[in-house]
Amino acid sequence: MRIGTPLTPSATRVMLLGAGELGKEVIIAFQRLGVEVIAVDRYAHAPGHALAHRAHVLDMTDGPALRALIIRERPHWVIPEIEAIATETLCELESEGLTQVIPTAEAAWLTMQREGIRRLAAEELNLPTSGYAFADSEDELRAAINGGIGLPCVVKPVMSSSGKGQSVVRSERDVAAAWTHARSGRVDRGRVIAEQWIDFDFEITLLTVRTLDAAGNIQTRFCEPIGHRQVDGDYVESWQPQPMQPIALERARDIAGRITARLGGRGVFGVELFVRGDAVWFSEVSPRPHDTGLVTLASQRQSEFDLHARAILGLPVDTRLQRQAASAVIYGGTDAPGVAFEGVEHALAVPESDLRLFGKPLATPKRRMGVALACGETIGQAREHAQEAARRIRVLAAD
Ligand SMILES: Nc1ncnc2c1ncn2[C@@H]1O[C@H](COP(=O)(O)OP(=O)(O)OP(=O)(O)O)[C@@H](O)[C@H]1O
Ligand SMILES: [Mg+2]
Repeated sequence: MRIGTPLTPSATRVMLLGAGELGKEVIIAFQRLGVEVIAVDRYAHAPGHALAHRAHVLDMTDGPALRALIIRERPHWVIPEIEAIATETLCELESEGLTQVIPTAEAAWLTMQREGIRRLAAEELNLPTSGYAFADSEDELRAAINGGIGLPCVVKPVMSSSGKGQSVVRSERDVAAAWTHARSGRVDRGRVIAEQWIDFDFEITLLTVRTLDAAGNIQTRFCEPIGHRQVDGDYVESWQPQPMQPIALERARDIAGRITARLGGRGVFGVELFVRGDAVWFSEVSPRPHDTGLVTLASQRQSEFDLHARAILGLPVDTRLQRQAASAVIYGGTDAPGVAFEGVEHALAVPESDLRLFGKPLATPKRRMGVALACGETIGQAREHAQEAARRIRVLAAD
């Protein structure tokens, strides 16, 4: 393993596809290791753009444009940070040997839509998941629900994230609205998944890292489980560790180990699981750092972003927890072309607190603009500190 000098022929180059708040932290981790970074996003002045050696604005679902940029920049590794990418193009470039996709182009392709990853998990690997069916019309959806999925169930577009287009169907009367809502999403493929409702005690993200050991073989490491709370399919709060029964933790690690081994490659994976008592269900997996894992910026010596950078380079990792911590999301709360954060001095006066303000140029009411982080003597205290710090921030339309 050698790392060259940025901006010279010896450089080790990575290209981030997506330079949002998660990409920004990955970029910082690479910069610390002297790697040359190219940041791509679909709009100018994305959070990570200013931290990279070069920044590009590109519609990453445009296959030919993406291919042209990758061929021009010749990164050693292409690192997807978002799902909506022309993954067929990544598959082609990887098979032509022109670049390497993290963790693999196939993994980016499989996880970009719910059908690929769900069939792989449930039908190929036999992992426990909620019962599910796919539907291409309102009639098919109704038939699937009546034919075994039952009520309540969750209806989701096959291509969506952050809860977009998702709804809970509690009675026969909700089906039409769920179908219409699913089709209103950003990427409409006209297909939905109906999932049986899992009445879980709690849900976790199990960050799983695949890197190389001293002998050059793949090794898998797990972080402590991250608990989180979702509102309308979007994460509002997370904490680490989430206390769990040893048997449930063992099952969670087994599921995470199997799905990540099947996806292959190197890097961090966010494995989302539902837990009730000793029972564990696989929900979905991101082949990249996870938004709920922002908490690791406070809880671990090596955050999920440090871990991702190291694993991509094939370096040793340390996934140990240092301190109980929590994160609380700061939303835009307003539509504005520029925002100002007020109360930063009060937020940072909360004991053991920290902040990340993402610097996004545009705010919308439900857009994540920052995150409060905090440690505590207990998980409860860490959560209180993080929420208190987040509450003290006011996001205003800048004048
Ligand atoms: N079958 C289910 N039973 C109970 N709750 C569910 C189910 N499916 C989803 N949820 C709830 O909705 C949340 C979002 O679901 P999911 O992770 O599938 O959507 P998403 O849009 O991919 O979200 P993200 O990309 O932000 O992770 C879950 O974290 C969970 O809280
Ligand atoms: Mg999810």
